[in-house]
Amino acid sequence: MIKAGNMPHLKVTPFDTSTLQEKVAKSTVMTSFSTSMTSTDMIIGVEHKGEEFLLQLKPDDKAYLLKYDKVTRPLKVNILKEALGLVSEELELVVLSSNIALSNTKAALSSEYFKKIEDFADIDYPKDKVSVEVGFGSGRHLLYQAEKNPDTLFIGLEIHTPSAQQVLKQIELQGIENIWVVNYDARLFLEMLPSNICTQIFVHFPVPWDKKPQRRVISKNFLAESMRVLEQEGRLELRTDSDNYFWYALETFFSVPKTEVEVRKNEALEVTSKYEARWLRQEKDIYDVYVKCRENSQERTDTVDFNFNGVKYTKEIENNLPKKALVFDGYFVHFERIFKVTEESLLIKCAFGSFDRPEHKYLLLEKNGCRYFVAEPVKTTVNFSAHQKLVEQLMLTEG
Ligand SMILES: C[S@@+](CC[C@H](N)C(=O)[O-])C[C@H]1O[C@@H](n2cnc3c(N)ncnc32)[C@H](O)[C@@H]1O
Repeated sequence: MIKAGNMPHLKVTPFDTSTLQEKVAKSTVMTSFSTSMTSTDMIIGVEHKGEEFLLQLKPDDKAYLLKYDKVTRPLKVNILKEALGLVSEELELVVLSSNIALSNTKAALSSEYFKKIEDFADIDYPKDKVSVEVGFGSGRHLLYQAEKNPDTLFIGLEIHTPSAQQVLKQIELQGIENIWVVNYDARLFLEMLPSNICTQIFVHFPVPWDKKPQRRVISKNFLAESMRVLEQEGRLELRTDSDNYFWYALETFFSVPKTEVEVRKNEALEVTSKYEARWLRQEKDIYDVYVKCRENSQERTDTVDFNFNGVKYTKEIENNLPKKALVFDGYFVHFERIFKVTEESLLIKCAFGSFDRPEHKYLLLEKNGCRYFVAEPVKTTVNFSAHQKLVEQLMLTEG
């Protein structure tokens, strides 16, 4: 029994896939076809409305499932649905069930105020002043600040997608134009910003993670990145109700050679978040810790380059690529699955990068080179280290 879930898919009557390669060659929407080296799964490459992505075809006794591929999925679900419809028409599939009726509701994540982390590789900041809020939750503080400071762009970071969607809706409803919402881990995001761009970085009530302190937002590395992106006299502002987190943060802030820290207890802010209101009712202590940036930082000069330096398809790679995840200091690389596209080309599904926010990508390995399909990873230091290991492993196996 194949489980399809809610994302766009079609269940179709089993059909002869031996002619798929030929059909793809003639198709207007399909661009490639590949088969798994270890299972019966297949992958169909498509190009529709300027977006390139993959569809998965999973055969089963009673029905074949044609569905979206998570790694390469386009942002607009309707593009995916249209492509599934077109492929099914071209292949003359007999549809048993489907959920690809086009919807007119605009997905909140397609709002112009939603930014992908990749966008920051080359982005124009519409305001001279920029502030960042980490983990905005209900967004009360973020929306309040944005309304009060129309000359500042507020970049809100939140890993919880439904909260990001809720706040995007509020932005549209309230007609606010100076917030960007980024659905990404704040610990990796700051690297994407230029030096000295921020006035404030708010970290309000971060999850204390008492049992897993390595997951905390505040760390030496986060402090260093915050100081780089803050302008001179800019501030990192932590607000917490957790004694543990307060002492942990102080220790972290004082562990660097030079720092200027200000501490306050039970300071009332102009706006109270839902989360904070609960603690206030319980008369819990709340701590503010402000770290001032004392000087401007240099622009980052390190260039992240996701080249494969001449790695090419060989039979050895096809047969001998390490199957297990390889773990290094702070990151990992894992060649998860291999799909054969032609006699001399492969699609390799990989996971790599940080343990908190791994990247999932396909590599297209051909006779004349290798590249990420369809897009490169996010340009973070940890992804770059992992990329170099991927290249190293491919070269070691290449023969
Ligand atoms: C306890 S809530 C506080 C929310 C809000 N700041 C407030 O004061 O009500 C912590 C929020 O941080 C988000 N969060 C946790 N770790 C994060 C990270 N690494 N990057 C971005 N957001 C994160 C969580 O999803 C959650 O919404």
